[in-house]
Amino acid sequence: MRVLIIGSGGREHALAWKLRQSPRVDSVIIAPGNAGTAAEGENVAVAPDDIAGLVALAKERRADLVIPGPELPLTLGVVDAMRAAGLPCFGPDRWCAQLEGSKAFAKRIMEQAGVPTAACRIFDDAAEAAAFVRSAGAPLVVKADGLAAGKGVVVARTEQEALDAIDMIMGRKAFGDAGSSVVIEEFLEGEEVSLLAFCDGRTALALPSAQDHKAAFDGDTGPNTGGMGAYSPAPVLPDNQLEAMTDTVIRPILAEMARQGHPFTGILYAGLMMTAKGPKVLEYNVRFGDPECQPLLMRLDSDLVEIVEACLAGRLDTLQLRINPQAALGVVIAAEGYPGSYAKGMPIEGLEEAEVQGAKVFHAGTTLRDGRPVASGGRVLCVTALGDTLADAGAAAYAAVARVRMPQSRFRSDIGQKGLRRQAGSC
Ligand code: AMP
Ligand code: GLY
Repeated sequence: MRVLIIGSGGREHALAWKLRQSPRVDSVIIAPGNAGTAAEGENVAVAPDDIAGLVALAKERRADLVIPGPELPLTLGVVDAMRAAGLPCFGPDRWCAQLEGSKAFAKRIMEQAGVPTAACRIFDDAAEAAAFVRSAGAPLVVKADGLAAGKGVVVARTEQEALDAIDMIMGRKAFGDAGSSVVIEEFLEGEEVSLLAFCDGRTALALPSAQDHKAAFDGDTGPNTGGMGAYSPAPVLPDNQLEAMTDTVIRPILAEMARQGHPFTGILYAGLMMTAKGPKVLEYNVRFGDPECQPLLMRLDSDLVEIVEACLAGRLDTLQLRINPQAALGVVIAAEGYPGSYAKGMPIEGLEEAEVQGAKVFHAGTTLRDGRPVASGGRVLCVTALGDTLADAGAAAYAAVARVRMPQSRFRSDIGQKGLRRQAGSC
């Protein structure tokens, strides 16, 4: 079969790499892809928000299966559009994608489904939001309702920071219509972890836990990024707690969405805070996380096509995931300056040497210039490796990182350290 993957990041390179291993897949097309996906299949320059263009591409190339990577096409209704054209597309429809597209929507569904989350208030009036902040006091978390490229959340330590956030989101409309309303919620303390599950509308099959590293610098300092590295499993959510956690934060959402007439198909991703009072959901995503996808797919031994087809046919209950018991860890190599303005065009060398000992270099912000990869985005590569333990996976990934040569680049040197500390019993 021919598969069309939508997107251009490390997640999409990992999807293309994994799908190519399926005996069912003859070819993959990636729209628009990067220098890494060009080696797995054919890149076609259609943007992820060009829904009509994507449908036309899938039809013209007779794609048998479409897999969107990022949230934007999902919230724009790519699944509905593909379905209307008779094309199987793996992901939630536009209604279900609101779970990620609107934080107010997600909060309402969580309340209806009885899922633990931070206490919150939702406002569409800036003066009322400010009055609430003055009465509640800090710390508080202020979130733009809609998609804001990961920048719409302000953890306000003081009342003034919360008031400034309301002004930025609702007054100055820093994120446009995404800031028409705000969610103001209780500040939670704890360790974060991601739980992702394949869903067919009724049944959920959880992948092992993963942990992202959102802050730009070592020790979780500096500005938030799309994610500077990830590993799986995360000791804060061990395998023997996966089923219970899926019962708490995934299955009630599936049941509630089905009850409302909109069964959820695709990947449901719960971003969790493990607090002293138990797990609380910070957010839902309706797709694979990037970079969590890279270590998770390295651990997935099952044929991804079989799982996706079972999701689309509503027969996930007949499958079990085959997971490699090894740990996997991915380190993002970013361009200097990211997540602010960053350098571009740097040549990337050493990619073959980096992969000699079984590590895999997933491309993210790369493009081909005269047939050679150069940096074109903030997150450039995600170097990922397996190991018998988390420490081994980390050592293998960092040994591979050391072989990659790219000027004006940087990476975090502590990916996985929180997990290692927890394993050692010191946190
Ligand atoms: P979100 O997009 O809602 O996951 O928020 C982005 C990041 O903000 C999370 O990964 C957390 O680090 C932080 N965050 C979000 N909500 C809260 C909260 N209620 N308490 C503390 N930190 C939070
Ligand atoms: N790594 C977090 C995300 O993909 O949203």
